[in-house]
Amino acid sequence: MSIINFLEEYKKLHRTLFTTPSHGQGSFIAPLALKYIGKKFFSNDYSEIDGFDNLSNPRGIIKSLQDYASKIYDSKATFFLTNGSTSGIVAAMYALLNRGDKVLISRNCHKSVYNGLVLTGAVPVWILPNYNKDWGIFEGISLDYLEEIFRVNKDIRAFVLTNPTYEGVMSDVSRISIICRKYNVKLIVDEAHGALWNFHKAVGTPSLLQGADIVVQSLHKTLGALNPSALLHIGKDSTVEPKHMQQALNLITTTSPSYPLLINIEALIKYLDSEKGKLYVFDYVKNVNRFIRSIKTIPNLEVYSANNDVTKVLIKVTNLSGYELSDILFSQYKIEDELANDKSVLLLTGLGTTKSKLKKLEKALFHLCANNIKITQDDNSKKFVPVEPRVRYIPSLIWEKPCKEVELKYSLSRVCMELIVDYPPGIPILLPGEVIKKEHIEYLSSKRQKIKVLL
Ligand SMILES: Cc1ncc(COP(=O)(O)O)c(C=O)c1O
Repeated sequence: MSIINFLEEYKKLHRTLFTTPSHGQGSFIAPLALKYIGKKFFSNDYSEIDGFDNLSNPRGIIKSLQDYASKIYDSKATFFLTNGSTSGIVAAMYALLNRGDKVLISRNCHKSVYNGLVLTGAVPVWILPNYNKDWGIFEGISLDYLEEIFRVNKDIRAFVLTNPTYEGVMSDVSRISIICRKYNVKLIVDEAHGALWNFHKAVGTPSLLQGADIVVQSLHKTLGALNPSALLHIGKDSTVEPKHMQQALNLITTTSPSYPLLINIEALIKYLDSEKGKLYVFDYVKNVNRFIRSIKTIPNLEVYSANNDVTKVLIKVTNLSGYELSDILFSQYKIEDELANDKSVLLLTGLGTTKSKLKKLEKALFHLCANNIKITQDDNSKKFVPVEPRVRYIPSLIWEKPCKEVELKYSLSRVCMELIVDYPPGIPILLPGEVIKKEHIEYLSSKRQKIKVLL
């Protein structure tokens, strides 16, 4: 069965609906919404009315479509999410962790993991991935260090790993999952940026096929879906029960899932699984590879290529900070990157990255390097070099506690009461409950004068 076919048949019944959503499939659309979104989107927006399925307890069309996706992805179960990876990450933590359970988290996690910590009451044990100062990015985690942490903390129940990183750096999930199993630790992989891998395994190997228990993927980041569509998969050999996962998802997600998003997920997965879709993906990856080969010939330009997903193009130019390069691309060439740091710039590509877009970027980079364009940019020129966090209170115990604002310069050793995140990439610098160190003050002083601390 298919949601798309079902809707087509349903429309032929010409039912008169006195149900939500109240726009009546587009009978009312605010004029500007009509102009900018269009009637089609509204006309396919339904609620769980008679004959439809229910995303929080799927038994009909959604269930059969999720089962179909599960076959394509080779999972034990696959769930469609219309609240992004954010909801999947929180629900995965909720499914596996009880109050007081220890959870290992790589510090380059997305801030949704913090939400999971608040809601589950779990106790974080942080692991700092290796930090590459030349590129200003986190890379993989040391497997020996990982094993050492599990040896010392025998009561860790789960590990939340971000793979790939925002910049596309991939970890050896096969070996990580073997270590996790040895210590009876469940492995949750935030694969928000790796959704393409299932359709082009030369780009990256899906964590699902490398022994992860739960994998969460955003479909809008690289795979060309509408914001915020995502999938949550349970690994084939995992002991995580799909029923239990569904219950956890139901605690987090909306009871009114977006049908346009579900339609898009169906259409996308079916297309990418078809011969045409496979060719499209193949062609796109070929174009990015060709683009990378070309820009690698530019003098003074370097492309990051250490075990990364090629669709995430991380570059740096001699004598320019990443922030300066980013500013030049923006102001001189009208090109906007995904993010910049003090060393490098990330250009995110995906299924919507056409050859002509790549050509424009290629030309700009050749021109920029040949003409030695420079600008002076000192705002944001500092980068936070991650330090080992010191947790005084766990997030679930601290987030409601009274706080006050103090001058940042007098906040050394106080307990931070804010979630301080640079966005993108959304990696936490300080979490509520963590002790403020001198490195935090040095970094934040160019951005703010005050900080909230525990009373
Ligand atoms: C690594 C990572 N995980 C999770 C998320 C959240 O994804 P979503 O936007 O689908 O909720 C993001 C978003 O930026 C991310 O970068």
